[in-house]
Amino acid sequence: MFKIPPKTNSIVNQCIEYIKKIDDNIFDNGPVQFLFPQVFDENIKQLSENLTAFPFPIKIFFAHKSNKSKVFVKESKKTGISIDVASLNELKNAIDSGFKGKDIECTGIKNIQFIKQSLKEDCLIIIDSISEFDIIKTLTSINKRPRVAFRINDPYCNNGCYNRTSRFGIKKQEFIDLVNKEYMNNFQVEGLHLHFDEYVPENKANMIKELVSLYKHLFEKNIFPKMLNIGGGYRFLVVEPKNKDKLLEEIENINFDDVAYAKTMFGLEKGRNGKISKTLLSDKFFPLDSLQYLTKVFDYLPEKKQLINDLNLNVHIEPGYSLLDSCGIIVMKVIGTKNLGENRFAIVVDGNMYNLSTQMRKWITDPIHISKNNNLSKKPCDAFIFGNLCKEDDVLLDRKVNFDRKPEIGDLLVFINTAGYAGNFEDTDAILQPKNKNFVYLIENSKSIILTEKEYLEQKK
Ligand SMILES: Cc1ncc(COP(=O)(O)O)c(C=O)c1O
Repeated sequence: MFKIPPKTNSIVNQCIEYIKKIDDNIFDNGPVQFLFPQVFDENIKQLSENLTAFPFPIKIFFAHKSNKSKVFVKESKKTGISIDVASLNELKNAIDSGFKGKDIECTGIKNIQFIKQSLKEDCLIIIDSISEFDIIKTLTSINKRPRVAFRINDPYCNNGCYNRTSRFGIKKQEFIDLVNKEYMNNFQVEGLHLHFDEYVPENKANMIKELVSLYKHLFEKNIFPKMLNIGGGYRFLVVEPKNKDKLLEEIENINFDDVAYAKTMFGLEKGRNGKISKTLLSDKFFPLDSLQYLTKVFDYLPEKKQLINDLNLNVHIEPGYSLLDSCGIIVMKVIGTKNLGENRFAIVVDGNMYNLSTQMRKWITDPIHISKNNNLSKKPCDAFIFGNLCKEDDVLLDRKVNFDRKPEIGDLLVFINTAGYAGNFEDTDAILQPKNKNFVYLIENSKSIILTEKEYLEQKK
């Protein structure tokens, strides 16, 4: 059977060594997540430095939605980047962490309370619907012009060969009608916005091209916006890239029905040839990172690159997931084992699908097994991993995992790279099972330090 080793780094590795040594009572009451703000800082630093190579300024707004913890909000503030918030409580977190409205963008669906607070703080509101625009209009006072941008739902050329559906934003034509109908000088229109999750540079480039072409409707009204927002959705390498070709080959040739728990593996169905597509796998495991992706996107747009510069536009990006690369791990204790018959086997952990947000993203890499019993006679074993809910589909990976030694009760499984969407996006106390307990793990003067989130945030004050 194949192994899918997660990509790690020195902080992750040191934290795992630390976990091996500590008293494991800490893992007795459900899953524990360790957050790595130092890695987050480094990710921001790297991206910021690399973005200076583009011919126009690119401003980073950390998408708070990718992780609920205030730890990363505080850290974003400290590094000097801006923030994208998608709910009233996220906005409150940003304000509590020291952000001012000028560095906050409000995206997504907004109720009146969220809109009112965004206006009060003078944030940039990315308008998601005409009804939202109408509400803002009624709340606007004559002496304070709200800062707005419009999220465009269909940035495709009219005779284009592709389009995508999304429930977010307003149609191009609605935007054009609005600009012609409304007295836009009551607003500070700062620009246009798009966000799509698909990750094909050429498609994103075409969308940007179309978005830029819409600015003329504003220019005609003597409105000269200052930014172009191209959203988030950037990825990173998930799997250790060593032996990439061999791994993809191995998975392609595996007996799908033997390894998959039900109908998917890594969230992918088998193709008509009974195999998983190597291309799809490669995109999942080894996607371009944000810098490679953005470089490709703008390489498709040489003349627009110049235009963006000539128009004096700042480009805004809203990465969440990619800034959280390697910023968290979750530890779950093994609490049982099961024989499923027909040589199928499972281990049960004290954590579940919600702790790992498996509906948001199917889990890909193998967990790291920390054996607590030095029973070297244990043999390798392929096993499914079941969660602690009374729910048939509480299976943490949709495939078998190959362990070097059969895990036993009391052992630990460590899931790597959980900070972006996994660790707490869907986390809930279904059947009153515990949610993830978060700790902050730091290395200072080569020593491991563990703090609660509260202690860390206090320390940062
Ligand atoms: C408008 C918007 N911006 C940014 C993001 C963040 O995307 P990611 O975390 O994939 O970078 C999202 C995610 O849903 C979004 O909807």
